[in-house]
Amino acid sequence: RTIYLKDYQAPDYWIDTTHLTFDLHEDYALVTSVLQMRLNGEKEFESGTLPALTLHGEELDLVSLHRDGEELEGDQYQLAKGTLIVSVKQPTFELQVVTRIRPQENTSLEGLYKSNGMFCTQCEAEGFRKITYYLDRPDVMSVFTTKVIASQARYPVLLANGNAIDKGELENDRHYVTWEDPFKKPSYLFALVAGDLECIEDRFTTMSGRDVTLKIFTESHNIHKCDHAMVSLKKSMRWDEEVYGREYDLDIFMIVAVDHFNMGAMENKGLNIFNSSCVLASPETATDATYQRIEAIVAHEYFHNWSGNRVTCRDWFQLSLKEGFTVFRDAEFSADMNSRGVKRIQDASLLRTAQFAEDAGPMAHPIRPESFIEISNFYTLTVYEKGCEVVRMIHTILGAGQFRKGTDLYFDRHDGEAATCEDFVKAMEDASGVDLTQFRHWYSQAGTPVMTVTDKYDAESGDYHLTIAQSCPATPGQEQKKPFHIPVGIALLDEQGQLLPLNAAGDKEQVLSIKQSEETFVVKGCKSKPLPSLLRNFSAPVRVRYDYSKDDLVFLMKHDTDSFNRWDACQRLGVAAIEQLVEQPQQAVDPQLVDAFGAVIADAAMDKAVKAEMLCLPSEASLAEQADVIQPLAIVAARKKVKQAIAVAHKDALQALYNELNHERVYKPEAADIAERTLKNVCLGYLSAVNEAECVQLAAKQYDDASNMTDRRAALGCVIDAHYRDEALVERLLTDFYDRYKGNSNVMDDWFAVQSSSAELGTVEKVKALMQHDSFDSTSPNKLRSLIGGFTRNMTHFHTAGGTGYEFLADRVIELDKQNPQVASRIMTPLTRWKKFEPVTSGLMKNALERIKAVHNLSTDVYEVVNKSL
Ligand code: ARG
Ligand code: ZN
Repeated sequence: RTIYLKDYQAPDYWIDTTHLTFDLHEDYALVTSVLQMRLNGEKEFESGTLPALTLHGEELDLVSLHRDGEELEGDQYQLAKGTLIVSVKQPTFELQVVTRIRPQENTSLEGLYKSNGMFCTQCEAEGFRKITYYLDRPDVMSVFTTKVIASQARYPVLLANGNAIDKGELENDRHYVTWEDPFKKPSYLFALVAGDLECIEDRFTTMSGRDVTLKIFTESHNIHKCDHAMVSLKKSMRWDEEVYGREYDLDIFMIVAVDHFNMGAMENKGLNIFNSSCVLASPETATDATYQRIEAIVAHEYFHNWSGNRVTCRDWFQLSLKEGFTVFRDAEFSADMNSRGVKRIQDASLLRTAQFAEDAGPMAHPIRPESFIEISNFYTLTVYEKGCEVVRMIHTILGAGQFRKGTDLYFDRHDGEAATCEDFVKAMEDASGVDLTQFRHWYSQAGTPVMTVTDKYDAESGDYHLTIAQSCPATPGQEQKKPFHIPVGIALLDEQGQLLPLNAAGDKEQVLSIKQSEETFVVKGCKSKPLPSLLRNFSAPVRVRYDYSKDDLVFLMKHDTDSFNRWDACQRLGVAAIEQLVEQPQQAVDPQLVDAFGAVIADAAMDKAVKAEMLCLPSEASLAEQADVIQPLAIVAARKKVKQAIAVAHKDALQALYNELNHERVYKPEAADIAERTLKNVCLGYLSAVNEAECVQLAAKQYDDASNMTDRRAALGCVIDAHYRDEALVERLLTDFYDRYKGNSNVMDDWFAVQSSSAELGTVEKVKALMQHDSFDSTSPNKLRSLIGGFTRNMTHFHTAGGTGYEFLADRVIELDKQNPQVASRIMTPLTRWKKFEPVTSGLMKNALERIKAVHNLSTDVYEVVNKSL
């Protein structure tokens, strides 16, 4: 059944207070819910009648039902598919619902479930209805009190949202804790944890002087890995005060790490629950990338306390209201904590690779979708990452000062409310006076706009004309698009590489507001034809077409002052060189590209972090995204050939740079050190593309000597994929890695991924064998994403001849759909891109999808994706 945004209606009833009691046992849990209900007085009802109350509920056993103290008989309520309908006698009343649930058998990891012996919850988006009958929709906000009762020995720690207000011991070695959250919230922000956990504790004093206790909980063997998350949390709290004027509002803030989790983390009020992979870090077990990811996700969930919790979403079509905005907030936080230029490059790269692909595929949707079958399918790169870019564009158009006025107004106006994307844009308009009418198309139109830029120079007048045309391809259900309001950052470079003044004021950089389907911008007084630097800092989520020559790109790589565009010039050059080889594999590698990369390697003045990014060739995924027709094996071969050519040509320089950067130091996850390690490991990656034993030996030595995971893991990848094959060495290192880290589940995830995603090792047979490995756990989303997900990203073996890779994935999806529909639906994404592949491949992918479609009783998750894809 499809749900439409246009059908939104306010609820018939509100729930003013919610009192929950959880009686947790080893084979079931009893949930008692006492709700103070109130008729929604703003709705019109037939006079003299009260509408029946329809509550959501799934997989629940109803034990008893009381209305104002009276036990209801079968004629007073009705249990229908997914709902409980209760007849109502008074406009305000108390409803008591007792349900029995089985957390131990809950494999969907939605609602209340068990992970490694502890109870935990995940309620967003619609998991609360698996706990009790409720108005499980975000516009129904209630004050929650939660009493948790469990065995004292097994579950010494009992947590829920808010502040602990009572605790005590009970008979039979049981105990309880009662928590009260004074802030009204929707059910999706509810959380409960019961387990044998340890915690680290710290304090934070807010700008107004509130003293807040901070706790991070984990199983005891991981307690030494929580410090980085704690440091990140305190930085986030300070940053939100300084940049947005937002402070924390309870006396305690808690994070709990759990191993079995469908997503990254969840912003439950005062009690964030995290995938352990997004909290735990030590230098020996986590890479630099993991350290940065943890910092970003801790910040993201913390920032939700305002953008998501204090102001929440009216309905799930508004998801980007909280997610797009919060991703923007965490991105700016990370930029302030680390290298701003690199953060922008990484985010733009992810967007262009994965979100553009989503926008071009069968599931394309606007950041505010108009309809869905299963909301879990819309926690997407579009809603999150493109949503972030849309907020960023508002920031760019308004400027930082007006943007801040806008967010102040938004938080002030809507605090305690469930708001819409429209409310956000309106607050921005009202605070700044800027008209965002046309800008709103970003919320309603799907697809990636294409900006085609042409230019013309008149030597006589010195006038330079830059013409920008925009269009947007059709997406499912949207044939025609209206022009977008696009902020386009530009600069012009003269022949010396200097930036030219663009106007009378002498600005050398400008953000154009493009609104028409075609617009021309004129710069006067140019002594020669300038070279345009377009979409600086990736100022909008669009594709730019401009006919740069290779010389132009080399020039931009050297002279552009915008690090994003310097990197992008490098990417364009790489894409062109690789695409040429995809078409004509026998040709030699473009010498201009090889030289240009040599110049980057040799440039001692360049920022190391940016340099490392520039030296990374476009990924296979990004090449696939940019291809008209994807030829997977040709892409792999062409990219490899280019990498080898660069490596062979610049071996000595790479070796020298490697040596210079390879010095022993105490591990610190700080920007300057991270930049050096990243660049060093990029060099090692190139060196291992040289077909010489000594290059593999270099990587092996780094592996053996490594004092941190970043260096060890990078070296392992290099040895596995090295041009010079030393299978015994590969085997030794994989075994060594396993032996060192087999007790660490998060590192084991990576051990599976490094094999399944490898062009050398990751065959279907290998992946099948690894599924039988002792350390594999088919109930763990992290393991599934690593092993199966890693394999679907393996261009060499996933797209293996005959389609055995697709058949394997279809089997996993069918099997997994019964266990965990969210993970099943997500893991099948690569198959949905079948239309972009060469005909034989495409047909095989389609067959696999059709086999999934033919299965009876598919979950709504998989059903929606498979049906929209075919
Ligand atoms: N709100 C969470 C976040 O972005 C994501 C949780 C969504 N979970 C889900 N199962 N759909 O931080
Ligand atoms: Zn979020």
